[in-house]
Amino acid sequence: MTGFDQLWRELRPIGRVAGSGGYQRFSWTPADLSGREWFASTAESVGLSVEVDRNGNQWAWWGAPGAGAVVTGSHLDSVPDGGAFDGPLGVVSSLAAVASLTARGLSPSRPLAVVNFVEEEGARFGLPCLGSRLLTGAVSPSRARDLRDPSGVTWAAAMDAAGLDASGIGADPDRLGLIGTFVELHVEQGRGLVESGSAVGVASAIWPHGRWRFEFAGEANHAGTTRLADRRDPMLTFASTVLGAREQAALAGALATFGRVSVEPNGTNAIASLVRAWLDSRAPDESSLARVVEAVTTLAAERGDRDGVKVTVTAESTTPVVEFNADLRDELAVLIGAGDAAGRAPILPTGAGHDAGVLSAHVPTAMLFVRNPTGVSHAPGEFATPDDCALGVEALSAVLEHLVTR
Ligand code: GLV
Ligand code: MN
Ligand code: MN
Ligand code: MN
Repeated sequence: MTGFDQLWRELRPIGRVAGSGGYQRFSWTPADLSGREWFASTAESVGLSVEVDRNGNQWAWWGAPGAGAVVTGSHLDSVPDGGAFDGPLGVVSSLAAVASLTARGLSPSRPLAVVNFVEEEGARFGLPCLGSRLLTGAVSPSRARDLRDPSGVTWAAAMDAAGLDASGIGADPDRLGLIGTFVELHVEQGRGLVESGSAVGVASAIWPHGRWRFEFAGEANHAGTTRLADRRDPMLTFASTVLGAREQAALAGALATFGRVSVEPNGTNAIASLVRAWLDSRAPDESSLARVVEAVTTLAAERGDRDGVKVTVTAESTTPVVEFNADLRDELAVLIGAGDAAGRAPILPTGAGHDAGVLSAHVPTAMLFVRNPTGVSHAPGEFATPDDCALGVEALSAVLEHLVTR
C-alpha cells in the first residue's frame, strides 16, 4: 500500500530552500513542475487516471469522471519560504487515503477525484486561489492571463512555457458540475486544535479577506544634502500607514499585515521615490473588513498630504466570508469525532483562505484541519506530528468512504 509516510518522504525534497528549511514552490517554476510530475506519477501508481483541466489544475480520477463526484485535494504551491504542510499535507493525505480505499477493494458508488489546484497562494502572480477562481468563473480569463509576476512574466506566458495552453483558460461549468462534494484537508494555521486537545477538526467558516496595493509616490533625492523640510519621503508615509493599520485592526478585532514591500530606487544613500506595499487584511465580518481598509486608506492619504507624497490604493483581490455547508460540517464532525469526549470533532473557523472557500459558493464543501503544535504557518516552523498526520489520513479516509458509498 502507498502509505502517507512514503509519499511524504518523496515530496519533501521538492522546492526545499537550502538553509531555512522552508519551501519555495511558485507556480510554473521548476519546483512546481517537479511537484506536478510527482503528483501525476504517484496518482497513476495508485491506479488513478490523471488529466489537466483547461486552467492547469491536475485531477486524478478513481473510475471514470462523472456527475456527483467526491473531490478532495489541495495545492502544492507555496508562499516565499513557506512551510512543508500548507497544501502538500492535503494532497498527500488525499492520495494516501484513496490508496487505502482502493487497497481494501472498496467499490465506490460514485466517482472520486484528487485535485491539485494551481496558484492557491497567489505568491507568484498575486491573486490567491487562481486555479479554483478560474474553474468557478470567479475571475475572468483575460484578467488571469495578464497577471504578472514581479519580473513582468504574465500568467499566460508562464503557463505556455510549461507546455500548457493559456488561450483556453476560463470558467469550466461542465467540470464544476461534476463535483457533488468537495473536501479539503489542511494543516491548521493556528492553535485552535491544540487548545481543544484534538488531532483533527472541521472548519466552520473563513474570515473575509483581501489584498490591497498601496503606492506611495514621493521624490528621490540625496540622503546627505536634502534638508528634512525639503523632503517628499514616501518611506515616512508608508511607516505611518503600517502603524495606523495595526491600530485600526486592533480596534476592529481584525488583522492587517504589510508583509511585502518594494522600494525604488532602493539605495541606502537616496531618499526613496516610490514605495509599493501590499496590505493583507482579514476580519470576522465584511463590514469590519471594509471599515479597516477604508480607515487605513484615509490615514495614508492624510499622512501623504503632510509628506508631499501621493498615495494610490488598488484592490487586488477580495474574498467574501465563507460559511461552510452546515449539514456536511456537522455530519463529518460526528463521523470523525466518534472517539472524542464530546462525541464529535471540534468545529472551528479560520482566517486563512483556501480553494475550498471558493468552491463552497458552488458545491457542498467541507474542510478538515490537522493539529499544528507550533500554530505557525506560511513559515518554516509550520508543523504537524507524524501521528497527527496519520490521524488526518484516517479521518479523511473515513470521510471519503462515507461520501462515495452513500
Ligand atoms: C492563503 O493561504 C492565505 O490565506 O493567504
Ligand atoms: Mn493552503
Ligand atoms: Mn497558505
Ligand atoms: Mn491558503
